[in-house]
Amino acid sequence: MGEMCAIYYFSATGNSLAVALELAQKLDAPPPISIPGSLILDDPYAAAREASQVGFVFPVHRATLPEMVRGFIKQMPKRPDCYYFAISTYTIFGCNEFWDIDELLGADGSFLNYAAGVKTMGSVGLIDPDSRTMARRLASMTEQVGEIAEAVGNYQENCFTRSSKLLGNLVKTYTDVLRRAIVFRVDRRCTKCGICAQVCPAQNITISEEDGAAPTRSDRCEACYACIHWCPANAIAANSRLHSHYHHPHIKPEQLNPSRVAASEQGTPLS
Ligand SMILES: Cc1cc2nc3c(=O)[nH]c(=O)nc-3n(C[C@H](O)[C@H](O)[C@H](O)COP(=O)(O)O)c2cc1C
Ligand code: SF4
Ligand code: SF4
Repeated sequence: MGEMCAIYYFSATGNSLAVALELAQKLDAPPPISIPGSLILDDPYAAAREASQVGFVFPVHRATLPEMVRGFIKQMPKRPDCYYFAISTYTIFGCNEFWDIDELLGADGSFLNYAAGVKTMGSVGLIDPDSRTMARRLASMTEQVGEIAEAVGNYQENCFTRSSKLLGNLVKTYTDVLRRAIVFRVDRRCTKCGICAQVCPAQNITISEEDGAAPTRSDRCEACYACIHWCPANAIAANSRLHSHYHHPHIKPEQLNPSRVAASEQGTPLS
């Protein structure tokens, strides 16, 4: 086993990808690997089998980790001699994500060695961040990733048990109910550009060739809202049209779920 660091990421609006790219650069690690992209490969875990450090970078969704990330870590072959780290990105607060990952790793005798949250600008709410807030937050994200890279580079361990499991469980239960009730609508502003299908981590959207037909959604939705945030025509709404339209300013839609090689082409978007 070499001294390789494998960084896996999931990202709906680009924040976690930006963090993963910056972290990989600071650690001099190979380019981060898309979790949705890996899941369609014959061996989604090839890099993790060889690495001495395995990391996960992902957004907090409903007070914990996205379901696709949970499934990915659950199925991953774990190695007790490997150093595992998890970096969540969030807008308000993280909660149960590190508890949950530690539990998933623990089922096979491993554990989460290091965990940290990065406060980002957000994809939750009604209002898009203004340019001053964006600039401030980008600088702060770079600083936070610098501290994380130093800790991970030194194989530091930490304790993440300050978050409240009870609060996280309540938020998740409440929002899971809301999630089941989501109805997506696409209106006539749709230009059939295909971006919603490209950014969807679940390959859940199909663009029809038929004249006038809107993109159709299947039943694999992760409720990540990437399609809404990235639609350049603002043509998708979930229940209400009152939704912010945010994505990380330096990330392009084609970078989100690509093969490992394509993800590395953009350099580091935070700095
Ligand atoms: C469905 C959904 C649920 C979210 N839940 C939370 C949450 O519980 N707490 C929080 O602080 N941020 C929450 N967020 C905000 C994201 O965690 C945050 O914007 C993150 O940086 C997005 O990362 P990404 O751009 O890599 O997708 C949520 C976002 C979405 C789309
Ligand atoms: S991203 Fe928007 S405009 Fe483009 S195909 Fe999807 S719904 Fe239509
Ligand atoms: S269809 Fe569902 S999984 Fe796909 S981008 Fe939209 S919200 Fe995310």
